[in-house]
Amino acid sequence: MADDIIREIKNRVDIVNFIGSRITLKKSGRNFKALCPFHQEKTPSFIISPERQIWHCFGACQEGGDVIKFLMKWENLTFYEAIKDFADKLGLKLKKIDFEDKTWKKKEQLIKINNLASEFFFYILTKTDFGKQALDYLSQREINQQLVKKFLIGYAPHSWDSLYRFFLKKGYQKEEINEAGLLVKGENGRFYDRFRGRLIFPIKDIRGNVIGFSGRVLDDKEGEAKYINTPETPIYHKRESLFGIDLAKEAIKNNNSVFLVEGEFDMISCYQRGIENIVAIKGSAVTKEQLMLLKRYTNRIILTLDADLAGQEAVKKGAEEAENLDFEIQVIVIDFAKDPDEAIKKDGERFKKLLKKPIPIYDYFISQAQKKYSDDDAYSKKKLAEETVVLIKKIKNPIVKSFYIKKIAEIVNLSEKSIENLIRKIEKEEKMKKRIFFNKKNSDLVNRDVLIQKYLLSLMFQSDDPFKIKEEIFKILEIDDFYFPVYQKILKIFFEFKKNDYNLKNFVEKLPEETKAVFDEIYLFATVEINFSEENFKKLIYELKRFSLKRKISQLLKEKNERNEEEIDYQLKKLIKEISQVEKKFFSL
Ligand code: CTP
Ligand code: MN
Repeated sequence: MADDIIREIKNRVDIVNFIGSRITLKKSGRNFKALCPFHQEKTPSFIISPERQIWHCFGACQEGGDVIKFLMKWENLTFYEAIKDFADKLGLKLKKIDFEDKTWKKKEQLIKINNLASEFFFYILTKTDFGKQALDYLSQREINQQLVKKFLIGYAPHSWDSLYRFFLKKGYQKEEINEAGLLVKGENGRFYDRFRGRLIFPIKDIRGNVIGFSGRVLDDKEGEAKYINTPETPIYHKRESLFGIDLAKEAIKNNNSVFLVEGEFDMISCYQRGIENIVAIKGSAVTKEQLMLLKRYTNRIILTLDADLAGQEAVKKGAEEAENLDFEIQVIVIDFAKDPDEAIKKDGERFKKLLKKPIPIYDYFISQAQKKYSDDDAYSKKKLAEETVVLIKKIKNPIVKSFYIKKIAEIVNLSEKSIENLIRKIEKEEKMKKRIFFNKKNSDLVNRDVLIQKYLLSLMFQSDDPFKIKEEIFKILEIDDFYFPVYQKILKIFFEFKKNDYNLKNFVEKLPEETKAVFDEIYLFATVEINFSEENFKKLIYELKRFSLKRKISQLLKEKNERNEEEIDYQLKKLIKEISQVEKKFFSL
């Protein structure tokens, strides 16, 4: 049964070791802290508990779970895939598992369809006459046979429905073939093949599953898209995919750097000639999702984009995203060809030499600006300073930042102080703009109410002596001062325990399934919420009581509008009296 396997995995895999071998952890009290690997952040909000063998992100993700859930997110796997992965590594036998995991089943089915389609395209290219023209095209572009096989390059024949019919014959349903992105619907409501008369590149995920396709015409004609791609499907997300990542990931890790190029041919061409730490984005936008994926393998990104204007724009955007994620960013400027594919074929030695000397991104920006404003007048200098400073000010590392401030100062013949002032001025303007758009006072208060609830519960459950803390808290508060029913449920179960029978493990076992995730979150909360650690514990308790009373009062006032009753007035009076006492206490502390 699945449950046994899951238990066995959790027994044998220590979550701290497992996550710790992938990201850097820091001890924090009885837990561990890290920068969340699943979103970008500057202060750690990713917490792991060795005792409970769970993790939780208190930042943008607001997600958590066990070691299996972690692997699912880390490698973008389904539940079943993650279990299978652990089972394989631990040498556990996986029997037929009858999970009712619908999303997994669907993903699995779509991957199967895509894999099968890529075999179909490969077969047409390599084994049939229909593929002849495409094979010629490949050899004209100097792609060798071995690589065709390695990348499973294929050809979609000139036909309206040969792939469609192939799948129907194999017993697949129209709906699923369409959901895999392989069909398009015509105006007459009929479905036909999306890819027709095109060279086909399968796009794979990091594990080598085919998740989509990119198809190129063989003869560049006016009015026809050079490339068409799989649309968004449940398994293909353009923002997350990187062409070649399945083959390049080891080399990226080993070289501790990755060359980012724009197109399939650039990637394959370079790969064939020995540059293996290379992946392609589609077109010209590097996304945060793609960078996050790369972050698992390296810290250093070398943007090797096309020499055209679009490429330069892409460098700018990509650099900004990459800086946010703390990448070291470098650029290759190709000055003798239009893109890497052309460059490596024109003069491989020269190109490889170029690749050995990437330019730090900020030097690149500055030299671009110098080219743009090359005149020696005040106006040009001002423009140059303004344009470069906007980019430099985003640098996170203070040493690197001051290095470039100095550099700009020298170029425009000003003091470093004035460059710093310019930065400050720009930042001030940005802040002003922001302030106009956000007024978050109210939501801050609501937040504080909930944050205190979580914090108090967390302190209690993390404590070596929860019952001592319980006494302190519940001398003043009651269970229903905790706003969420699920908090109340958890507390009620806790209250049923006597001190001598209590330990964390027993307690968690008693919790109903639907409360467990919430409990994990509150349990770990105090480790991340450093804001409160300075505050007076007792005062927080009174503050929460005050929030709770206010909530009750406004609830009663609402009811009073609906049915004017004396009973309500009586309760209101009581509450108001109570709140004034609480406030007196609160302000005296
Ligand atoms: N692209 C796309 N759709 C298009 C054009 C381009 O998806 N209509 C993507 C392809 O992945 C392509 C990349 O953007 O490889 C870069 O486009 P471009 O520089 O125009 O093409 P090249 O990579 O030079 O393609 P080729 O060498 O095959 O001409
Ligand atoms: Mn090209």
